[in-house]
Amino acid sequence: MSWNTFSQLSSPSVKYGLTPDALTQTASSFESVTYPTSLTYNNHVNITGLLPYTTYYYLPQNSNATTPYSFTTARLAGDSTPFTMGVVVDMGTFGVLGLSDHVGSGAANPLRVNEQTTVTAITQKLNDYEFMVHAGDIAYADYWLKEEIGGYLPNTTTQGPLLYEQILNAFYDEVAPITAAKAYMVNPGNHEANCDNGGTTNKTSGQVYTDSICPMGQTNFTGYINHWRMPSTVSGGLGNMWFSYDYGMVHFVHIDTKTDLGNGLVGPDEGDPEHGGPFGAPNQQINWLKNDLASVNKTVTPWIVVFGHRGWYLSSPKNACTNCQTAFEQLFWQYDVDLYINGHAHFYERTAPIYKGVVDPNGLNNPNATLYITNG
Ligand SMILES: [Fe+2]
Repeated sequence: MSWNTFSQLSSPSVKYGLTPDALTQTASSFESVTYPTSLTYNNHVNITGLLPYTTYYYLPQNSNATTPYSFTTARLAGDSTPFTMGVVVDMGTFGVLGLSDHVGSGAANPLRVNEQTTVTAITQKLNDYEFMVHAGDIAYADYWLKEEIGGYLPNTTTQGPLLYEQILNAFYDEVAPITAAKAYMVNPGNHEANCDNGGTTNKTSGQVYTDSICPMGQTNFTGYINHWRMPSTVSGGLGNMWFSYDYGMVHFVHIDTKTDLGNGLVGPDEGDPEHGGPFGAPNQQINWLKNDLASVNKTVTPWIVVFGHRGWYLSSPKNACTNCQTAFEQLFWQYDVDLYINGHAHFYERTAPIYKGVVDPNGLNNPNATLYITNG
């Protein structure tokens, strides 16, 4: 359980139970963390010993929530019941600080009348999926300067760090109906890296902005690291960067395609000043991935699905992460990864099962190669 408060909590606590009027159990921690420029404290409590696929009711203490929320725990590994997950990528914030029905100069594709935002759609479809994956590029808080330069937001240059945090908080509020009810599993994307959106130029004034404008707290995935808690401790992964978990018949793996690729390969934006990390030792992620995939018991979880922000089989070559392919594809083949889902390219595309550019002759009839989906 994670929730934010404006002041630090000495011991974040969650009351929970099997009915909304009997929150008889309490879990607590000492984890109420913040970072420079943050407007809030991120409280995290790990609840253990829950029954599988069971609905619980819960109420964070010292928050403004008064009505218990509910969520359903994960299916046991090996549960053969079909299930549906939701997957979004590159979603961003909607509303006054983000995408809306008007745009500034240099931008395009505003919402048209009666068009629904993605977050509205997935909120309305809450009962149609069991958990949500957001494979990177989460809130787009690093768009604050582009929005301002384009005239979408008023001149707030001197308040840039504040605006960045306000966009983050607007996003977290916006997705709260989802995150309060479902596990929301994340990957690091480039828009989590820092505050300058990979470099921003004011085409009118010619002024070029780089990550030198980013204050401490808005570099190197700091907000992302503080806000979320992924199951890396139990899976031997690292923070919110790489980790795995089982759900029903699937072993799910989340990888970091932005930093820490391993084998001397650097992140896909090498030379870009927004490049962050590394977060682990050399080859830590790739060694972990190999061990994680090798330890899958395919009689329990016969399917392996991997999520990463960036992919490599794309009809738009500029979006392809060739270093990611060099780092990961051979392991996918060796350990029979069924499906890889990425975002970043902002269009939908999928491949046949394919390995090193060659389509698997088995097609969808139990191929050894991995099928790739780029989620729009
Ligand atoms: Fe991206």
